Amino acid sequence: MKKTVTICFANNKGGSGKSTTCGNVGYYLAQQGKKVLLLDGDMQLNLSLSFFSEEDVLAMAQGQANLYHAVRDQKDLKDYIVHTPYENLDLIPSSTLMSGIEYELFTKWQRELILRKCLASIKASGEYDYILMDAPPTLGGWAMNLLCASDWLLIPVEASPWGLFGLANMFEFFSTVRQISPELGLLGIVVTKVNERKNYFRQTMDVLRGMENVYTFESYIKVDASIEWAQDASQPVGAFRKGCRSAAEYEALAKEIDARANA
Ligand SMILES: Nc1ncnc2c1ncn2[C@@H]1O[C@H](COP(=O)(O)OP(=O)(O)O)[C@@H](O)[C@H]1O
Ligand SMILES: [Mg+2]
Repeated sequence: MKKTVTICFANNKGGSGKSTTCGNVGYYLAQQGKKVLLLDGDMQLNLSLSFFSEEDVLAMAQGQANLYHAVRDQKDLKDYIVHTPYENLDLIPSSTLMSGIEYELFTKWQRELILRKCLASIKASGEYDYILMDAPPTLGGWAMNLLCASDWLLIPVEASPWGLFGLANMFEFFSTVRQISPELGLLGIVVTKVNERKNYFRQTMDVLRGMENVYTFESYIKVDASIEWAQDASQPVGAFRKGCRSAAEYEALAKEIDARANA
């Protein structure tokens, strides 16, 4: 039976490319023959919007068949899966009510482990090669749930001074989560929204590559307007404009993630 690898894309800095990277890596892993389940863990619904129209996403978010209701009522998430238009690629949609999930979980027994329990039967079935989770830009009890349900943390970082500054919080949170879930590993850092003409990019890479015990992926993602056009069309960039630069970069990144997560 397959082992399902679960990866959480998290960084408390907003706009660092979490949702974009989670969706596009998921798309390419699926294209590369892996069976992938995406979990939209953010009330901003961005991961869901990467694959479905605004109308469809709002309908899912406002109904009952979404992550919020499943986690609040501690249901088996296998009953909340929807198929995306792409082969091998499924999604658990989010809800705008996710903003209140911490409140709902507060009084529950083992409240950090509720998502892990909701995902247990999907993981045990071995149906998916990967479960990729998109985290919100906050480091609280819900992010803790996402990370406690993951084998790996992947941190997308924007190549900017403040992008690097925020990393310290992320590392501290990672250490805290490991006290509850010691098996969680740091898969690595992916640098996003790179402008190679800026010297700052070189400095960012030097700082990251100089860090001990932290892997920085060889593949990085440059600024590319195709990403925004693809998001406007509710499509992953590889489906929207197959030959564009960021599509090739995400394809390479997906291969690198696959190799590293299964090493
Ligand atoms: N490589 C890129 N080139 C251009 N725009 C990008 C790129 N990656 C992300 N973006 C844009 O940056 C914004 C933030 O990205 P997003 O993935 O939503 O970050 P996060 O989920 O960390 O908040 C979005 O508007 C997205 O369209
Ligand atoms: Mg996001």
